[in-house]
Amino acid sequence: MAITKNTNVEIHVVRLDDKIKHIKKDWGIFFTPQWVVNFMIDLIDEDTLDFTDLKILEPACGMCQFLHGIETNKNHIFIQASKKIGVEINKEVIDYVHVNNLDSNIEIVYHDYLLWETADYFDIIIGNPPYGIPSLSKHYTIKIDNETKNIYKRIYETWYGKYNVYGAFIEKSVKLLKENGQLVFIVPATFMILDEFKKLRKFLASNGKTEIIYMGPDVFKPDADVTTVVLKFTKSLTEKNKMLLYDYDNGYLKLLYQNTGWMGDIILFSTEFSEKVNEICSFRIGDIYTIRISPRTPEIKHNPEVLQSKDYIMDKNFLPILNGRNLKIGKVIYEPLTGYWIQITKKTKLRKFFNKPHIVVGLGFRGDKQVGAAYDYKSYPWMGDVYHLLREHTLVTRGFDLMDEDVVSFLNSEIIKRYVKDIFRDITYHFNITQLKLLPLPTRAETEKIYNEFKHFNKIGD
Ligand SMILES: C[S@@+](CC[C@H](N)C(=O)[O-])C[C@H]1O[C@@H](n2cnc3c(N)ncnc32)[C@H](O)[C@@H]1O
Repeated sequence: MAITKNTNVEIHVVRLDDKIKHIKKDWGIFFTPQWVVNFMIDLIDEDTLDFTDLKILEPACGMCQFLHGIETNKNHIFIQASKKIGVEINKEVIDYVHVNNLDSNIEIVYHDYLLWETADYFDIIIGNPPYGIPSLSKHYTIKIDNETKNIYKRIYETWYGKYNVYGAFIEKSVKLLKENGQLVFIVPATFMILDEFKKLRKFLASNGKTEIIYMGPDVFKPDADVTTVVLKFTKSLTEKNKMLLYDYDNGYLKLLYQNTGWMGDIILFSTEFSEKVNEICSFRIGDIYTIRISPRTPEIKHNPEVLQSKDYIMDKNFLPILNGRNLKIGKVIYEPLTGYWIQITKKTKLRKFFNKPHIVVGLGFRGDKQVGAAYDYKSYPWMGDVYHLLREHTLVTRGFDLMDEDVVSFLNSEIIKRYVKDIFRDITYHFNITQLKLLPLPTRAETEKIYNEFKHFNKIGD
């Protein structure tokens, strides 16, 4: 940071530093480590740049780290560019940039990038957009009022479900690229697999070439606990539907996978191990089971049949409603932990499938990420983040000969633990239905084959 000799300005800068700490969270600010900025700038492909009318944009520019990085690392590009624009929503950040002279040779636009209109198209769009689900709730880092959120929803075609603003930043930026223009963003890896981003993945696939470089969970630690990737997107009619996945390897790219017919399906990692498991297993969870989620807390709270009183402990007509805390790996703890109760005869009013024994799967086995499954042989009512695997009986499932209890063992095995780690890495801590559906399931004969192949993996309970 440049501090001028003028004492007044120094005081001003210190105050703004304090202020910036406060507003940091509200605006999703965390700064990009310089080595990442340098690496991303190195990804700019100079061969395809049109130097006659070069325009560079840094959305959500903050201190303009990327524009300054280009000025330092690729000065010839910076000098040649007819436009170098940073867009920033926060006046205090802009003031800070101004006071510290960080905006020399750069045009800073004071605007919400997602609502900003411009007649320009850009050759390079680069940066670190904010991440977060927009809302005024204290759970969310990005404070956006409902009216603005509704405008975003209306204008962004990729907006879907609990959308994260970084998805809208990607869409807007792709739309502002010239043909053959390049977008280089560091973003969370969640768009690779979560359902909320299915429209975004399709949008990327149909507008050009998508390259993803996995950076892992440590880039923004300790400021933020987020697994990131660098997304390099080239807008191109001739290269659409191309997708390449790389590992970051000490400043180099290691190609893991490429697909020239990518239609926007979820993007998984693969290893020799996961490939072998795929080869052996004939089924996936989604082939055999319908997956349902338990009623959420608000639904339980507002249900007139649900009661809250310690008195029901002794009453045989009542059952406690269970949640994730009642689910241990391989075992359901049938104890009243939630404080919610329902009459046995009314439990199916919550969900019909509470009428028969089935597999329950828990989320949030944080840290050493794994699936936690158990068999609810007493068919209790459930709430919260617990999935229910309801067995289908169709032509497809006919060849599948594992009992539900064996499936539980397999889901809790080291094989699945390793598989999950290999294909999803650290992208999210939680499983969603889409991810669960993808897990492989072997038949009885295939189970033997798998355990023979990977002898060092124990079956759970062995
Ligand atoms: C994650 S920081 C990134 C800052 C900078 N790119 C960097 O890497 O250091 C996000 C910045 O985006 C700004 N910001 C957040 N939402 C914005 C929006 N909708 N439009 C423009 N800027 C926004 C914040 O004020 C903050 O300065």
